[in-house]
This record gives sequence, C-alpha cells and structure tokens, in this order.
Amino acid sequence: MDSDFLWWRDGVIYQIYPRSFGDSNGDGIGDLRGIISHLGYLAQLGIDAIWLSPVYPSPDADFGYDISDYCDIDPKFGTLADFDELVAAAHARGIRVVMDMVLNHTSDRHPWFVESRQARDSPYHDFYLWRDPRPGSRPPNNWVSIFGGPGWELDPATGQMYFHMFAKEQPDLNWRNPAVRQAMLDTFRFWAGRGVDGFRLDVFNAYFKQPELADNPGGRLGLRAFERMQHIHDIDQPDLLPLLRELRALLDSYPERYAVGETFLEAPGKAARYTAPDLLHATFSFELLASRWWAPAFARAIAHWQLSLSAEAWPTWVLNNHDVRRSATRYAFGVGREDDRRLKVAAALLLTLRGTPFLYYGEEIGMRDISLARSQLRDPVGKRYWPLPIGRDGCRAPMQWNGAANAGFAEPAARPWLPLHPNAATRNVAAMDADPGSLLNFYRKLIALRKSHPALQRGLYNPQPFDTHFVLAYLRQNATETILVALNFSGRRQRLALGEQLAHAGWELLLSSQRETEPAIAAGLLQLEPYEAMLLLMH
Ligand code: GLC
Ligand code: CA
Repeated sequence: MDSDFLWWRDGVIYQIYPRSFGDSNGDGIGDLRGIISHLGYLAQLGIDAIWLSPVYPSPDADFGYDISDYCDIDPKFGTLADFDELVAAAHARGIRVVMDMVLNHTSDRHPWFVESRQARDSPYHDFYLWRDPRPGSRPPNNWVSIFGGPGWELDPATGQMYFHMFAKEQPDLNWRNPAVRQAMLDTFRFWAGRGVDGFRLDVFNAYFKQPELADNPGGRLGLRAFERMQHIHDIDQPDLLPLLRELRALLDSYPERYAVGETFLEAPGKAARYTAPDLLHATFSFELLASRWWAPAFARAIAHWQLSLSAEAWPTWVLNNHDVRRSATRYAFGVGREDDRRLKVAAALLLTLRGTPFLYYGEEIGMRDISLARSQLRDPVGKRYWPLPIGRDGCRAPMQWNGAANAGFAEPAARPWLPLHPNAATRNVAAMDADPGSLLNFYRKLIALRKSHPALQRGLYNPQPFDTHFVLAYLRQNATETILVALNFSGRRQRLALGEQLAHAGWELLLSSQRETEPAIAAGLLQLEPYEAMLLLMH
C-alpha cells in the first residue's frame, strides 16, 4: 500500500444494516456484538471502513431512522461500552467506523419533541416546524410527505400542526433555531470524541426549508403527490451552505474525519454542488445504481457524475443500499436466477472506477431480495404502498453466513426479524469461501488489486473510444501504470479492436471472471467471453 493512502478516498466502504448482520443473543435482531464477531470476515474481504445504519435508541417507526437519543446506543443493539469495543476492535484491524447521522428529523418520542408538543411556549416548541392550520383545518401549505399523505399532522394539545417530510413519527427539526444547530453540532463532537471516523448525513439537503414555508409549485408528472411537486421550497435552501462549512471546519479539527451526504432527490449536478474542500468530502449520486443493464447506460451515468464534479471533488460509487432493490435482483432479468456472471461485471466496474466504492452487506455474496407476504412487511413504506413494489424490506434480509438454520445470522432456534432468503442454504459466505471461482472471492481479488495498484485508486479514468454497445472499456492510469478494464455486458462473445498503441503493448492479466491465463490478442483484437470482466496491466 502506498504511503499517501487516505482511507475515505482510496479505500472501500462497506455499509452494514445492523439489524441484519449478526445476532449475538438470539432475539432475532442483529446487534453490535454480532458485528464485532464478524470483523475478521470484513478484514479478510479487504474493506477499509464500515458505515453503520443507525444504532441509536429508536422506536423503529423507520427502523433507526427515527432517533430518540443522539448520544446513546439502543439496548437492542447493545451498550455504549459495546460500541466503544466495536470501534477499538475495528481500528485494531485497520477498519474505520462511519456513523449514520439522521438530523433532518427526530423521532416523535425524542424528549425534545415530547416537550415541544406540550405547549406553544415550551422552550422546545421552536425546535420543530409548528404552524397554525389555515381556516377549515387546512394544512399551513401544500407540502406532502414522501412516505405518502400530507406533510402536516395536527396536534390536539396545541391546536397546531407540525411538518414531517417522512413518517408522522419523524417530525422535521427547525434548523433555523440556533439551539438545534448547536445541539446537532455537539453530537458530531460526541461521536468524533469516541473515535468515530466519519459520518453519513441522511437527507442533509432537507435540513433547511424556505423561511416562510411557501407552497411548492406543481406541474410535474408522477404517480404520487410528492413526485408531482417541484421541490424548490422544502429542500436545497442557500442557508445550508454556511452550516456545511461550519460542520467541515469542526470535522477538520480532528485528523482524517469524513462526511458523506445523502443528497435527497439528487440529480448529479445538485449532489456535486455540495462536494467541495470547504463543504462535504463527498456526496452520493444514484444514477449508476439506477442504470439498466446496458453498457451505454452505465457509461452515461459515469460520465455524468464525473463531469458534474469539480476538479477537487472526489466521486463516490454505489450499486446498493438499504433503500433500493439489490443489484442481484435488478440485474437478474435475462440470466438464470442464481447466475452471478453479471454481478462479477458489476463488481469489477464498481471497484475500478475513479472514486470511493460503497458496498452493501451481502452484495459480495450476491444476496437477492426476499419476497414477503403482506403480513410479513415491516417497512412503513412497503406497508403503505402495498401491493406496489416500493417497500424496502426486500434488501434488508439477514446476512447469509453459512448453511445452518438461520444461516449463521442467529442461533438456529431464533426468529429473525425478517425471513431469510430461501437460497441461504446454498448461497452463503461459507460455501463461497470454499469455491475459488465464487463471487465472494472475485470481490476479494478486486479489492486486493485495488489496494496494490494506486492507478486503480487515484489514477486517471480514461474511457476508450472502442466502446461497443455491449462492452465498457477504460484505462486507469498514473505516472507508472496503465490498467485496461474491459467489461462485457452481453451474454455473447465480443471483440474489441484495440487502437494502434494498445494493440502493440504487452499485457499482463491481473484478473478475469472467465479465464486464468493471458488472452491472445490477434490482429489487434481482444476477445471477451460472455459476461467477462477483465483487468490487464500494460507492460
Ligand atoms: C434516508 C434513508 C432512509 C430513511 C429516510 C428518512 O433516505 O436512507 O432509509 O427512511 O432517509 O430518514
Ligand atoms: Ca440481538
């Protein structure tokens, strides 16, 4: 590893959904000790940091994304002492820890909100967005919740309404109140002081609303009221920028701290605006994740995100998270149900782009979404919109560790909070560990290559003109190395005509998903097997 290595820029970040990773006490819910027991696996995978979806006390209206105490750990996950132990154990293995900060809203059981709804003159009243209803008990404006229904909820005690962008159990904070701002900045100090290395900011660009809470214009097409609205007053207000600067200065007062923002209702251009040396270290763009299985669609998403970012900004890349169908499910169309060839192509793409790759637990073993009967749904979005397939339980199933009952996620007698995928008996870490050709071992090799070739981390990304509709090919180059990445997105053999310069170079095979030995390049043509992902080093 080279000495300039910077964990959040050059490393690989692995998202854990703590409820579903490892259950240490048989209650069917994953917990911190469960994570600690699997750190060895993560170290062996080669990742550099874990991002934990929220582990704070939460009544779980939105499974942790409704927080009732920002400075503690929910008993179902463990204790602060367990958390400290997790940080120490992770650090001992060179793994950084990123916390999820959900600061747009609290839980409705947070003491601030409980106080806030007591009376209009409560000192906490102004912590949230309270307004009088308009005549006829109509909401103060036309804003709606992205989880469905109106954005305003009437509270009988005060006769006022509060705004919630998400569930009604998630009241939005009033970030214009200096006391809110102070309290939230203090939570960063609290966790950074405990050794936390980074923060993922949940829907950060929704913190500030237009001061008068003006109506949003409509005029867009969409199934849901939320989509038909132009969100110009409920997100992306200019007041956010000074706050981000203040947060960045705070983080920069500690060594190597990091903040990555989930840009709500993101478009690459917008997400890019918040990534800057004095703002956030990084933000997410979800265009790659939304691409259909078609090389030009991926090429476009990659170009779009890179061109949106300024020269000093660093990209992030993601194919999965806790809010979307898993890539293994999305890309299954047109290949066998348990076929992993496309997933190897996707893995090679994610791990060889210029930027920080984010993996989501189970992606490395190709976990598929579970399907649930209506009575098994847990996610509020899934319940509300059933039978529309927009719920998020499918991608949150327990991690598949081995072929035992409960797949090693929990003891065999436990009842996991979500059912396991029926394929867990055969698709699991233990089985893939033993198979040199497995998807898991392919991820391991890619991550190791990335680590030993700085060109794959920080090198230039140089898309090649010989792209066909079926193949994506690019060079990653620094002063000392040139690596060719060629990805066949099709189920047929493809030939790439290498240009003059590349055709005459000597190539060493670093990795292929389909072969062990150097490909023959005849008459300047490089042949790719169906769904082959290939990395070649130029000599
Ligand atoms: C983010 C999270 C999502 C959550 C929402 C409200 O989009 O990723 O899981 O429901 O914010 O906090
Ligand atoms: Ca547990």
